[in-house]
Amino acid sequence: MKTGIFYGSTTGTTADIASRIAKALGVAEEDVHNVAEVRPSELGKYDFIILGSSTWGDGDLQEDWGDFIDAVEAMALDGKKIALFGCGDESMTDTFCNAVGEIYDRVKGTGATIVGAFNTFPYEFNHSAAVKVEGAGAVGLLIDEVNHADVTDKRIAEWVKTL
Ligand SMILES: Cc1cc2nc3c(=O)[nH]c(=O)nc-3n(C[C@H](O)[C@H](O)[C@H](O)COP(=O)(O)O)c2cc1C
Repeated sequence: MKTGIFYGSTTGTTADIASRIAKALGVAEEDVHNVAEVRPSELGKYDFIILGSSTWGDGDLQEDWGDFIDAVEAMALDGKKIALFGCGDESMTDTFCNAVGEIYDRVKGTGATIVGAFNTFPYEFNHSAAVKVEGAGAVGLLIDEVNHADVTDKRIAEWVKTL
């Protein structure tokens, strides 16, 4: 199964996490793509697609995702597997990692199987669009390099085991 990682990142944090997830999964750097630099059709090469975005503004997708996610939403991805991750700041307590929830909403109709739900314990935030069912965890891996960088490696290690 060929795995590709696609990320959008403004200050480099999500890019760094994408590389660390790649390393944990044994994915080659050439299969780690910045959505600002590749065409959405590149997704077609992969059976397992990992999508990552930071959250900006008031709970918005990182800006490079704009046209890219529109294109992904329109794709038929039956038979493929998708997992999601994102970077945010828990102190933005009402919109923490919202981008992960937005990407989920945009890909759930593509026919792909979405994997990688992640328990939100022991995070501390009021609300995230990445939590679809209260108490059921988030629909992907949520990373907070601003406040909790010390647990990032542990979270990545736990998450990749579930994929
Ligand atoms: C102006 C601004 C708005 C932000 N808005 C949010 C937000 O709504 N929710 C959140 O979880 N993080 C928010 N963040 C935090 C970023 O998502 C976080 O710093 C992230 O690690 C940046 O990743 P990147 O460098 O890959 O873009 C915001 C940061 C800034 C500077």
